[in-house]
Amino acid sequence: MNDQPCPTKEQILDVLKTVQDPELNQDIVSLDFVKSVAVCDGRVRVDVELTTPACPMREVIRRDIETAVRDLDGVIQVDVDFSARVRSSLPEKCELPCVRNIVAVGAGKGGVGKSTLSVLLSIGLARAGARVGLLDADIYGPSIPKMLGIESARPGFENDKVLPVEVFGIKAMSMGLLIPPAQAVIWRGPMIHNAIRQFLEQVEWGELDYLIVDLPPGTGDVPLTLAQSIPLTGAAVVCTPQAVALADAVRAARMYETLGVPVLGMIENMSYFVAPDTGREYDLFGKGGAEIAARQLGVPFLGSIPINVAIRMACDDGTPDCLFADDPQGVGDAVTRVVEALAARISLRSALKLA
Ligand SMILES: Nc1ncnc2c1ncn2[C@@H]1O[C@H](COP(=O)(O)OP(=O)(O)OP(=O)(O)O)[C@@H](O)[C@H]1O
Ligand SMILES: [Mg+2]
Repeated sequence: MNDQPCPTKEQILDVLKTVQDPELNQDIVSLDFVKSVAVCDGRVRVDVELTTPACPMREVIRRDIETAVRDLDGVIQVDVDFSARVRSSLPEKCELPCVRNIVAVGAGKGGVGKSTLSVLLSIGLARAGARVGLLDADIYGPSIPKMLGIESARPGFENDKVLPVEVFGIKAMSMGLLIPPAQAVIWRGPMIHNAIRQFLEQVEWGELDYLIVDLPPGTGDVPLTLAQSIPLTGAAVVCTPQAVALADAVRAARMYETLGVPVLGMIENMSYFVAPDTGREYDLFGKGGAEIAARQLGVPFLGSIPINVAIRMACDDGTPDCLFADDPQGVGDAVTRVVEALAARISLRSALKLA
């Protein structure tokens, strides 16, 4: 039994005003994160609603709440329950009103892992509990259906709209799902423009917290059309650590800035190699270049993904979810860290919109 009088809800809310969200630099009460406070016999329960289920600061916030509330006289136990509601970073009047955030995954160069990361980021966000769509905007060379193992799937139709294919907890759409796999798409710029617009307007995406858009290589028609067709939350720029690849990534980041698309951050892919027998890390291409480039550009660095045969195999086999379940040499962990860093940057964009 607790002999001391319990603190009131108001007293608890007062101390919760000292707990800051480290990313948003505001207290959790002003941010409207605290949904309810219950006190009973010295036991306090605080319900906190985060802005993303992939919040990297969850444990920091939990610890800070526990420390602050435990300091009050009469408190013997503190429980923190988390839920999440992803807020929109997009204008209210938008072509896709049910989609809260749209993120393009691009790069200056081909083959650096845009599609791989689009798939892994989408699955990572979905595993955290978010509603996720993945649009393969690589019209000429769609690789998402193979990476998701849905090459033979065909989308359904409902009320004149195309239904995305659901797999690994995400909704996917690709030109590869609409045409036979071996058929080449030979289209001019305006047709590409129409295809992208139709993917946005004619696909029944439903309610999504995040729509991830896998871009083709380079700085051509697709990023331009995308940026002109719909407001984007921002772009994640993928690069490998070699100097030549970095120069292209810097060009891609500048292109997004010119298009008025915020760069949410850079991701270094094929960053380092972990030897399976010894666990030793080797920097094949000079790890760390993307972080330096990001700093020079003044954009966030979202993390590094190792080069690992398990990634290549999982994407070739259409079984990318096993990278999270089996976590071969920390691949799943590395991806989760990038997912959380990206989700935090997106939350920051929506907070800026609401400010
Ligand atoms: N971290 C990694 N470790 C091992 N293999 C990887 C890694 N990232 C990507 N790959 C492999 O590299 C190849 C190219 O990746 P991916 O298709 O994702 O690149 P891309 O940038 O989308 O290419 P494109 O410019 O042609 O669209 C694929 O076979 C993929 O499995
Ligand atoms: Mg690709």
